[in-house]
Amino acid sequence: MSVKAAITAVGGYLPPNVVTNFDFEKMIDTTDEWITTRTGIKTRHLENDPNKATSDMATEAVKELLQKRKLDPTEIDLLIVATVTPDMMLPTTANIVCDNIGAKNAWSFDLTAACSGFLYALSVGSQFIETGKYKKIVIVGADMMSRIIDYTDRTTCVIFGDGAGAVLLEPNPEGYGVQDFILHSDGSGGKHLNLRAGGSKYPASFETVQNRMHYVYQEGQAVFKHAVVNMAEVSVKIMEKNGLKAEDIAWLVPHQANKRIIDSTAQRMGIGPEKIMMNIERYGNTTAGTLPLLLWDYEPQLKKGDKLIFAAFGGGFTWGSLYLTWAYDGSKN
Ligand code: UT7
Repeated sequence: MSVKAAITAVGGYLPPNVVTNFDFEKMIDTTDEWITTRTGIKTRHLENDPNKATSDMATEAVKELLQKRKLDPTEIDLLIVATVTPDMMLPTTANIVCDNIGAKNAWSFDLTAACSGFLYALSVGSQFIETGKYKKIVIVGADMMSRIIDYTDRTTCVIFGDGAGAVLLEPNPEGYGVQDFILHSDGSGGKHLNLRAGGSKYPASFETVQNRMHYVYQEGQAVFKHAVVNMAEVSVKIMEKNGLKAEDIAWLVPHQANKRIIDSTAQRMGIGPEKIMMNIERYGNTTAGTLPLLLWDYEPQLKKGDKLIFAAFGGGFTWGSLYLTWAYDGSKN
């Protein structure tokens, strides 16, 4: 049996400040009813301390994971942070997290793939374990979306939240862990979902600020249509490729952008609601944070050998699915 990259611990962090749909009713022209029926979201956590940044959330998530696994930070070989809200352009958020936790022997980098970021990073990290190159890799998905959201754009602002999750990857000689992944990207989707300013094309200027180009721009319906089709298609494909039937799958772990997208994906896969991990109602869309935060929430229910299908779709466009077998009884952690 070949060595696989197994998830052996999970950590998470949410800023304490909770904003409800009713709070939004006081800020913009919206209703709790609209947000709930169109997205499934009721509350989200939004950082209200201006001195905090994505690295602070990521650091807390990784610290929890290290504590659970009783791991010394110097044992980490590699740490990847998937994020579209890095603290700054340079240094990377991953470098800052390593410094915060004292991961002195790790190398680290950020990975940008929007809502698919954690899935991309998990796939990348798993390769370094499978080749035998490394023994301990931390994969973080973290986004402080509140810092790049335009709170006058009612369609976009209500859906996003802040949060971070982290997992530890270790070699598993029994063969539990990442079994397969299918990843895609299509840059032509960039026109429907982007944040244009602050890079080399539109460096920060008076005009970029005045034209609100440092905020996320999303054509909701266009993104929705692509997400519904592609997330379902790639999830069905990974099932077929690995000879999996709906009854074989213990959990669908889907990106939390919109409950309607999730339900439609599950339906195409033939998976019932009792097998869908869901926390969109409480956290909203935390971008790269959604998938590890689902694992964080559902860890006590996970059992050794459970077959999990991850699925994500996001800006880029980027999307994909990943098939993983769970390596430990979560209730004992
Ligand atoms: O995670 C990254 C990838 N992102 C996604 O997967 C997001 C995909 N898109 C979506 O989830 C949905 O498109 C949204 C939740 C963003 C929007 O829902 P929608 O059902 O597509 O709404 P819409 O943009 O088509 O707007 C429908 C109506 C419009 O009014 P009219 O023109 O029909 O009178 C909007 O002005 O709803 C109105 N509307 C709102 N009404 C109350 C838009 N936002 C709001 C709001 N409150 N917050």
